[in-house]
Amino acid sequence: MGQYIIEGGKSLCGSVRIQGAKNSALPILAATVAVGTPCVIHNCPDLSDIDATLKILRSLGCEVHRSVGTVSVDSSRISLNSIDDVLMREMRSSIIFLGALVSATGEAVMTAPGGCDIGLRPIDLHLAAMRKLGIRVAERHGKIRCSCKRVRGNKITLSFPSVGATENIILASVRASGVTTIINAAREPEIVDLAMFLNSCGARISGAGESVIVIEGVERLHSVQYAIMPDRIVAGTYMSAAAVTGSSVIIEDVIPSHLAPVFSCFEQTGCRIEVSGNKLRITAPKKLCAPDTIRTMPYPGFPTDCQAIMTAVASVADGVTLINENIFENRFRHVSELNRMGADIRVYDKVAVVRGVDRLQGACVDATDLRAGAALVIAGLCAEGVTTVNSIHYIDRGYDSLAENLTSLGVSIRRKD
Ligand code: EPZ
Repeated sequence: MGQYIIEGGKSLCGSVRIQGAKNSALPILAATVAVGTPCVIHNCPDLSDIDATLKILRSLGCEVHRSVGTVSVDSSRISLNSIDDVLMREMRSSIIFLGALVSATGEAVMTAPGGCDIGLRPIDLHLAAMRKLGIRVAERHGKIRCSCKRVRGNKITLSFPSVGATENIILASVRASGVTTIINAAREPEIVDLAMFLNSCGARISGAGESVIVIEGVERLHSVQYAIMPDRIVAGTYMSAAAVTGSSVIIEDVIPSHLAPVFSCFEQTGCRIEVSGNKLRITAPKKLCAPDTIRTMPYPGFPTDCQAIMTAVASVADGVTLINENIFENRFRHVSELNRMGADIRVYDKVAVVRGVDRLQGACVDATDLRAGAALVIAGLCAEGVTTVNSIHYIDRGYDSLAENLTSLGVSIRRKD
């Protein structure tokens, strides 16, 4: 399970380089199954969710090699098109193998995915889209069996711009006969990264990053080397570390346009952000002002994955912040743990009312999911005394070398496994 033990009150200085994006690397690694020839993925972060994905690739018969930051996958000799329930339950993004396997083998057998307990996380949009593509979908005894001779392109309108459903449709239709159009597609940068990876393999995908994406099916795809884009959520996390400690920190390897909604929130707290190419410097005031109301929305709105860390920032800002979580129905689990540290946060259904306090107090708290765990670490950086964060295996899902990076910025943090 593991713990982080953090001594609060240190100010940060120096610079940190941002890892490759988890939510890009996961669908791109799954996409190597649809490519069907050897691919090399660079800037791949070292995370437990990546480990889980590589386990799935190996279980399917792919040849997988990993060195620091680079993963090579040869899916030319896939021997299986079903994924074991234990592997499916390890993370949400295992569902992305559905579209990739159908593309590669015409069949996929799996169970419902796992993932952080931040809501019900149904897959109805995924399965309805598969059926629209002419794929037979049978759900019996907890198993999902998908099959078809050849995927047929079609027009699919999503009732919600689901990231995972958009990715699954792209992966299922990339080698289909005919053209697929996704209406109300997710616009997240991770969708663009997936489309750029597939286009570099010879796919014909246009409109990624917009609400309408067109995928013209191609017969086959070819090998490629590809570098994953930087992780915008991890960048936001290190920005919040600087904000709560009144520090000035340089953050390297970012794509500023991906962080626009997060930038404006930090600026409202009084932080100054200076951008230069793919790096930024964030300089925080000694006392933060409470940001305006935060509403989580699909991209380019404020990202739900930054909600928990911004709740930690607001908890020590001067004033009151309303935080409206619109994406997941159970994503305030960090609130009770922050209140253990002296925060003053009340939750009314989808809205958290955060009254900033002078200072948090160090305490023993539990991470309940990936971003909630990150929020507790951020709170520990500015709390008085020592904070112990338990169950940090959740944090390992999305943060590569978190303790090492924070230590290099001047934080007193140590890991106890
Ligand atoms: C992706 O999850 C990310 N995960 C999440 O990041 C992120 O929070 C989320 O997108 C939103 O940006 C990965 O990319 C691996 P959705 P995903 O489908 O694809 C509902 C993190 O911390 N929905 O856009 O699961 C769903 O219940 C993780 O890194 C349906 O109702 O998100 C949710 O309320 C957490 N039916 C909303 O849509 C469906 O078939 C958004 O889900 C699919 C989704």
